[in-house]
Amino acid sequence: MKIAFFDSGLGGITVLNEAMKRMPQEDFVYFADTAHVPYGMKSKDEVLTFVKQSVDTIIQEEVKALVIACNTATSIAISELRRIHHIPIIGMEPAVKPAVEMNRSSGKRVLVFATKLTLQEAKYRELVSRIDDMGMVDSVPLPELVQFCENLMMDGPQIVDYFKTKLAPFDLSNFGTVVLGCTHYPFYRGVLSQILPNHIQIVDGSIGTVNHLMQVLQDSNQLPGTGNGHVKWMCSSLDDAYIKKMEKALAFLQAVK
Ligand code: DGL
Repeated sequence: MKIAFFDSGLGGITVLNEAMKRMPQEDFVYFADTAHVPYGMKSKDEVLTFVKQSVDTIIQEEVKALVIACNTATSIAISELRRIHHIPIIGMEPAVKPAVEMNRSSGKRVLVFATKLTLQEAKYRELVSRIDDMGMVDSVPLPELVQFCENLMMDGPQIVDYFKTKLAPFDLSNFGTVVLGCTHYPFYRGVLSQILPNHIQIVDGSIGTVNHLMQVLQDSNQLPGTGNGHVKWMCSSLDDAYIKKMEKALAFLQAVK
């Protein structure tokens, strides 16, 4: 049985990469909803429909767990998916909680990057109002970054200029942590760490999500598996060129360390 990962496009590969490092004896299936990426600028109803359709396809594979490796899809569809499907479904949310805890004693601020849809959803607003009792959190959407990523533009002057423009309104000396609350964004961790002042830490949800996934599999005696790290790539637009793109995106992450 495989472990499935789902995202609108390439973003969830940042979570898959973490899972592959930690669980070399598993096989995986990765599904990208290429017919509808990006989700972040679409309506809630559209995204709910697209996610349900995608998961109906994924579930045809022999899978022992499904990771919704997309903050946007999680915030819109996770409850509905868990109601329909009876396999473990692991979702993601921007890592606001650990970021706020990290900065509580210093009083530094937290900058959360995520999609427009994630930031406007009740799930995110409730998360922030529950955790951010000192009003430390600023939230900024980065819609163009998903497009850059989908075009495999992972670095270069255009990306650097883009981040500089988005960061310009903020006095970064007041910030302690940047949260990457969209799974496409960790592809830019390297570029971002060169632009941000050294004292700012960058966090994303992939380690926490894989910890949770492993715990769920452990609790149901499904670890270790009998696989060897094979990934079956799938996408909704049946596009062979996109399969190559997914392999390239994974190779980019694997080359980092
Ligand atoms: N990777 C996704 C997320 O984590 C969504 C990006 C998009 O399709 O806009 O939110």
